[in-house]
Amino acid sequence: MLPVVVVHGGAGVIPEERREGVRLAARAGYAVLQGGGGSMDAVVEAVTQMEDNPFFNAGRGSVLNVAGDVEMDAIVMDGKTLASGAVSCVRNIANPTRLARLVMEKTSHLCLTAGGASLFARSMRIPEVPQESLITEYARMCWKENLAPGANPVESQLGKFGTVGAVAVDGGGNVACATSTGGILNKMEGRVGDVSCIGSGGYADNAIGAVSPTGHGEAIMKVCLSRLILFHMEQGQSAEAASDLGLAYMASRVAGLGGVVTVDPQGRWAARFNTKHMAWAAAQGGTLHHGLEAGEHFTQRIGDPR
Ligand code: GLY
Repeated sequence: MLPVVVVHGGAGVIPEERREGVRLAARAGYAVLQGGGGSMDAVVEAVTQMEDNPFFNAGRGSVLNVAGDVEMDAIVMDGKTLASGAVSCVRNIANPTRLARLVMEKTSHLCLTAGGASLFARSMRIPEVPQESLITEYARMCWKENLAPGANPVESQLGKFGTVGAVAVDGGGNVACATSTGGILNKMEGRVGDVSCIGSGGYADNAIGAVSPTGHGEAIMKVCLSRLILFHMEQGQSAEAASDLGLAYMASRVAGLGGVVTVDPQGRWAARFNTKHMAWAAAQGGTLHHGLEAGEHFTQRIGDPR
């Protein structure tokens, strides 16, 4: 069994800049495994990197809601114990995934939302950041464009943004997932998407594997995409075949588009999508795999800069 970290940086029509961002994130997560960290440490590190990168729709770079504010969702799940933690509609923090991990580790709850999540963040001494530090000029421009009568923010977003996520297996065969997002462009205030909902925005179970999705949250929630894919793996499908079955069901049943990264406890992995692009990268055994367009699969040594 070879430990692995697999990340995605959003599905849709994805800009080239994300290629570099997902490679950096996969390398960072893999370095944690090589340093003796567990799969949970690795996925949180990988996703934190993408939350700090303004090219992704998570943390800094998040899309804005209809009022022009940033409200973020995140989840983590530990396949060893089925422990999970999530936050929804959280504001003024740089790394919602770290807060989700604290919900898992320090409370008896699975999800904290909005003001309650902020109170908890303060009690954990997570620094508050000004909202302006999370907003990029690009996000503000897209928000303004989509305030116009007749605008279609969902359509517009598929061309530009994407949730981020990671799955990993460590040397002990423990699997974990983490997913983080600013949600969908010009969403209603208080909208909660798939990401903070266990089984939709991620799932991890050492007996089966782990999944982190990206795509239109309402569609992902209707089919509980992450747990659906793991159900297919429980029935004997490979990570790749189960991912394709889950995505095909979402497309045929609710016309939903998206992508996933999936691992099994043996370190077999998949990065699959039914959109034009999904930025993805996987680090395993000294090799970095990556791609963006359908059918694309490049490899390089992990240490090579490009
Ligand atoms: N999949 C991210 C969202 O819809 O919020």
